Amino acid sequence: MSSHSDANDTARLKREAATWAVDAFFRSSMVVGLGTGSTAAFAVQRLAESRAQGRLVDVRAVPTSRETEALARGLGVPLTTLDEDPVVDVTVDGADEVAPDLSLIKGGGGALLREKIVAQASRRLVIIVDAGKLSPRLGTRWPLPVEVLPFGWRSQSLFLESLGASVAVRRDERGEPFLTDQGNLVLDCDFGPIDHPEELAARLGSRAGVVGHGLFLGLTTDLVVAGSNGVEHRTR
Ligand code: 5RP
Repeated sequence: MSSHSDANDTARLKREAATWAVDAFFRSSMVVGLGTGSTAAFAVQRLAESRAQGRLVDVRAVPTSRETEALARGLGVPLTTLDEDPVVDVTVDGADEVAPDLSLIKGGGGALLREKIVAQASRRLVIIVDAGKLSPRLGTRWPLPVEVLPFGWRSQSLFLESLGASVAVRRDERGEPFLTDQGNLVLDCDFGPIDHPEELAARLGSRAGVVGHGLFLGLTTDLVVAGSNGVEHRTR
């Protein structure tokens, strides 16, 4: 009973953060980035509503996953790509864990690589979360997703263990290995609290076969948090 109402409360907070962010940051004629996950889905819905009501016109959206692409398309949101629009004005996306310096762990939905590509192509990255995502230190509440090529993935797993992680291959609802939109595997890496995220990001970034990881460092420009006292906006 209480877990059901907790889930409803969390969904309400996600919707509040998403709605606030779209209203505050999206403007007509912008190229916007659309994140992936349940919070980002509320932002896609708000964008569609705002278009239907004529408050936002001539907006084109870059989706960060096939899932978001299907949702946006279904709601009639005009889509574009980074090939057509290589600079994105504002991206709104969720996160799994947010540290006090606005660094993030992302990738719970498996879209970390496209999310980071779109984030790095964006002038502004607005992260929308419920207050339960705030964390004193990355790695405290969520394992770090690492996307690896299927070729040689066991070697990557050993490499990640040598860096101190407990590694689990992500599986889908049928128990099969989860495959990203690029056809890669996700290794969920429990490092415990991460003391030096920049150092870890550098180690991961220099490993052949690791095609992405969920550490988003120095990318967030704005954080929108919905909690019991309403919506709070922080900038970096
Ligand atoms: C997907 C992500 C999501 O933004 C993250 O997992 C948060 O998801 P949700 O909004 O459903 O809690 O990084 O790859």
